[in-house]
Amino acid sequence: ERALVLLDKLERERGLTFSEYAELIDAETEALRKEAAKRAVRLRKQIYGDQVFTRGLIEFTSYCKNDCHYCGLQRSNAEAERYRLSEEDILLCCKEGYRLGFRTFVLQGGEDPYFNDDRLVRIVRAIKAQHPDCAITLSIGERTHESYQRLFDAGAERYLLRHETADEAHYRKLHPAELSLRHRLDCLEDLKRIGYQVGCGFMVGSPGQTVETLAEDFHFIQEFKPAMCGIGPFIPQHATVFRDEKQGDLHQTLFLLSLLRILQPNLLLPATTALGTIHPLGREMGIQAGANVVMPNLSPVEVRKKYLLYDNKICTGDESAACRSCLNRRMESIGYRLTETRGDVKPLPSPS
Ligand code: SAM
Ligand code: FES
Repeated sequence: ERALVLLDKLERERGLTFSEYAELIDAETEALRKEAAKRAVRLRKQIYGDQVFTRGLIEFTSYCKNDCHYCGLQRSNAEAERYRLSEEDILLCCKEGYRLGFRTFVLQGGEDPYFNDDRLVRIVRAIKAQHPDCAITLSIGERTHESYQRLFDAGAERYLLRHETADEAHYRKLHPAELSLRHRLDCLEDLKRIGYQVGCGFMVGSPGQTVETLAEDFHFIQEFKPAMCGIGPFIPQHATVFRDEKQGDLHQTLFLLSLLRILQPNLLLPATTALGTIHPLGREMGIQAGANVVMPNLSPVEVRKKYLLYDNKICTGDESAACRSCLNRRMESIGYRLTETRGDVKPLPSPS
């Protein structure tokens, strides 16, 4: 069958043409999903065994100067409650995270000008001084070259900046006019040149997405060769213009996770909170489709309800203070275990 020929080629050559990607993505059936997941899990096992890496996610500011149409933190969302964690709060989160076994901290937030380079450099240095054996990942959007360089020099070694879509017209549909795909991609190149382990990624099922735009995403990832790739379903947020749009599909997200694993077997691929939000076992299914990272929430419980990118986000209630042990149980239930390591990307072995 044609789809299997394409799957073989993807695995053997680690790449397809645009039209082949579109054809393969369009050919999704339950049988093809199963076959892709089987191959994805085999490839991941060869590199990462049965280890699932964890990162402690610290959502340190909900202020944002951007107005991305899909996101609940957009500046024009007047009903969003805004907060910032102090440097002290952030260090406390890390300390607690360290005690729980985290060796990577992801500092994520809206694009908040309050956190200028001086403040962020101080925070990164302080975390590094407190936990020299931990990795720091930043996920704070588009910044200048100088800023990226200073943060890298201060000790941040990874950066997550989803490209969101590799298609111009689609990018314009998702973002206001002042944001451009060109600038986003320039930032990603810049981060990589500086020496960060870089993560790109996209939402599955965002308004306007088609198999063709997804093919462009895959083609971009094939060329860019990121260390990480974050994908999760788009979930509507009630205060945004996309409030009535359909949420991304669980099965398509799982299928695309498998294809990404086959395309680049060493990718750090999270089973995202969004995936866990659209299905109670979404994150477990993500791992079984080829993901190898989970990012439990380490933010103080009091602020979690204020970082609402989308509706019904999980892990925001009082009962979820201990996300790590919850995820530990979840991973063990499917035969995997969380590691207490930094979880750096491993080199790509030559194709078998
Ligand atoms: N401000 C930083 C940035 O833009 O990279 C980091 C925070 S931003 C909220 C993190 C990611 O959340 C975005 O890259 C986007 O893909 C995802 N996101 C935002 N709104 C979403 C929604 N409604 N459904 C699913 N994911 C969403
Ligand atoms: Fe947050 Fe389970 S991972 S409560």
